[in-house]
Amino acid sequence: MILDNSFVLPQKPVILTGDRPTGPLHLGHYAGSLQNRVTFQEEYKQFVLIADMQALTDNMGNYAKVRENVVEVAMDYLAVGIDPEKSTIFIQSKVPELAELTVLFLNLVSVARLERNPTVKEEIRLRGFERDIPAGFLSYPVSQAADIAAFKARYVPVGEDQLPMIEQTNEIVRRMNRSLGRDVLVESEAIVPKVGRLPGIDGQAKMSKSLGNGIVLSASEDDISKAVKQMFTDPGHLRVEDPGQVEGNVVFTYLDAFDQDVAFVEDLKQRYRHGGLADSIVKRRLEDCLQAMLKPIRNRRAALESDRAAVLEMLRKHSLIAREEAAKTLSEVRREIGLDYYFL
Ligand code: TRP
Repeated sequence: MILDNSFVLPQKPVILTGDRPTGPLHLGHYAGSLQNRVTFQEEYKQFVLIADMQALTDNMGNYAKVRENVVEVAMDYLAVGIDPEKSTIFIQSKVPELAELTVLFLNLVSVARLERNPTVKEEIRLRGFERDIPAGFLSYPVSQAADIAAFKARYVPVGEDQLPMIEQTNEIVRRMNRSLGRDVLVESEAIVPKVGRLPGIDGQAKMSKSLGNGIVLSASEDDISKAVKQMFTDPGHLRVEDPGQVEGNVVFTYLDAFDQDVAFVEDLKQRYRHGGLADSIVKRRLEDCLQAMLKPIRNRRAALESDRAAVLEMLRKHSLIAREEAAKTLSEVRREIGLDYYFL
């Protein structure tokens, strides 16, 4: 092929994903999303957003919590192997274009539609807002749509609970494009991980900081050991020789998620079901597995903690890169609407 100036290298598809900085990341995040991000960054142009503005939608007044966790989450990202040479890790509030796009998008969504979003509905119930729903909270799916659309993300890796967000994003994108008369924005597709949500160590459906049933990525050797000892197994498995239940048994769920030796785990399951295999043996296997997995993460994190300035500098640089990208989309939208006021 003769290279002329019409030749453009094919662009890698864009991925956008992120987390609210409201607490340290835990094993649930690792199984459900962090591991995938480490893989995706090889093949995609990946943006990882630390959604501080979204975190504020139900944390007004808790500013210190959100602010401190921005850096904590960034360190968790780096510790698990999200590579700043391959991914752009940025802070949502450092990209004000996202807020601007949100304001435009808000005109394309009805309040009734927002109230129908099942994820938001459930979160409103859990937070006990009742009639006093902050408007910012009700409309955070719109701000999330702006996060995704501003980067023209093709794929959005998210947990199953976030599917309504992607659906709503695409609705907004289609309306925006229709109103502009040109497909400025692109629709995106969710990528949902094969492993479902990891339960808490107590067997509850969700691992969460407020429930105190998680294992954070920075957990010490001792924390891990204690957590595994407390872990919910089969309450009917009273004596070693009794047949045990594998389904709903958290220790096996975690082994499925993290033990690389699938055949070994299958064999353990069979012996457990049959009877004669003690919980303590299965727990020992899981503990060894988690200790081996989390040790390098903890060590990398400790190194990052002793050089926070480098982490802050990375966030600053990456937020600028992200801002440039979002600003391109914003200026296209502004131009189509006629908000560029070139004559001023
Ligand atoms: N809502 C996501 C969460 O609670 C965080 C988030 C914000 C996000 N903006 C996003 C995820 C855009 C994917 C794409 O974890």
